[in-house]
Amino acid sequence: MGLLANCRRSLLLSIVALLWIDSSSSESTQFTLSRAEKPVHAYIAVCVLAKNEHLYIREFIRYHHWIGIDKFYIWDNQSRPPLADVLQDHVASSLVELVYFSDSWRADAALFPSMYNTSTRTFMSPQAWAYDNCFRMFGHRHTFLALLDPDEFLVLKQPSPPQQQPAAAAALAAAAPHLPTFLAQYEPYGGLVVHWQLVGPSGHVRRPNGSTMESYTQCVPRASLQRWTLFRAIPLGFLKSITATRCYQQGCNPHLCDLKPGCKYVNEAFLEPSAPVVRALQWDRIAVFHYATRSAEDYKAKMVRGSGHSQFLEANRALKRTHRGWRYFNLVNDTATDTCLEGKQAWERCCAGKRDVMEDAAGKV
Ligand SMILES: *[C@@H]1O[C@H](CO)[C@@H](O)[C@H](O)[C@H]1NC(C)=O
Ligand SMILES: *[C@@H]1O[C@H](CO)[C@@H](O)[C@H](O)[C@H]1NC(C)=O
Ligand SMILES: *[C@@H]1O[C@H](CO)[C@@H](O)[C@H](O)[C@H]1NC(C)=O
Ligand SMILES: *[C@@H]1O[C@H](CO)[C@@H](O)[C@H](O)[C@H]1NC(C)=O
Repeated sequence: MGLLANCRRSLLLSIVALLWIDSSSSESTQFTLSRAEKPVHAYIAVCVLAKNEHLYIREFIRYHHWIGIDKFYIWDNQSRPPLADVLQDHVASSLVELVYFSDSWRADAALFPSMYNTSTRTFMSPQAWAYDNCFRMFGHRHTFLALLDPDEFLVLKQPSPPQQQPAAAAALAAAAPHLPTFLAQYEPYGGLVVHWQLVGPSGHVRRPNGSTMESYTQCVPRASLQRWTLFRAIPLGFLKSITATRCYQQGCNPHLCDLKPGCKYVNEAFLEPSAPVVRALQWDRIAVFHYATRSAEDYKAKMVRGSGHSQFLEANRALKRTHRGWRYFNLVNDTATDTCLEGKQAWERCCAGKRDVMEDAAGKV
């Protein structure tokens, strides 16, 4: 039994490989030259794997650009139509770089066995392969790289305004949250781990007209999440990381990367993510608002089209479940009894009332 499982595992590992094509290969000579002369250095960039996220990808980019992320590497897993259709302006301005990839990795692994040698590289899934490529291809351009999904939004929580200093408090509140400034204090470390705050359907059966951040506010309180079976089984599956690129070693899962010796992740309070720290779920200064379900209508559509990959793949495998299904939806809905307004408030400051014409168009794809 154990032997069989091992064989399956090594077979799986040895065939993990994917094809990728640079989206702008015809223009690459020209752009590569000008970049070499004057390199663009975004302090922090994001690697995103996406499949058919036309409806959501623009608000994800708009919001994160507002908090100071100046580069988005979007790995488009065979979206139909291609995500490029709704991202042309961002590609033209270099805010977004698209990489097309598919799951024809069996063929690739057969053709390039040494490149996909699992005894020398840590590839746990096609997802991990894409993340590894993101670090290897683009890591040198940035101080930090974050791995996020299109339904995950980094929210910087403002410190509570001091009571006696209304003027200072007002100035503090007026300053837009700036992720690079926040991250600077974590530069000596291998990266920052950030806990998920899970946000549920918040009463929406139909897809709401507003943006994700303004529409969904019902969230799972800490104590409830700590009681989830999934959380208790794999608490590391409930956080995301922003990795210092100088510390990247080889391979990531969707949550954490292998770091070079001497590099360590810390959480917002500069604590290493030991088991008790991970279980404590600290999200006072920064959180990843994870809009895990959106409305019932959105969730149904997502299950039909396939999410492209699953955050919970490992956890579900461990619990012998193959997909999230309605049980997961109901679990989130039933336990999302708190109201978390930081996401909605951030969106109001960032983007509310500023119409994005392309976002409207994306809804019609
Ligand atoms: C993979 O790497 C190991 C260790 O370096 C080596 O022994 C093996 O021959 C490699 N396999 C392939 C297919 O390149
Ligand atoms: C890409 O999409 C296919 C089909 O939906 C899926 O099976 C695969 O896991 C996805 N790959 C990644 C890396 O997300
Ligand atoms: C979510 O839970 C609430 C309260 O238990 C319930 O009234 C509602 O019908 C549920 N929503 C969906 C879409 O199932
Ligand atoms: C969205 O807007 C349309 C037109 O204004 C309206 O008919 C519809 O009920 C709205 N949907 C939701 C879920 O609010």
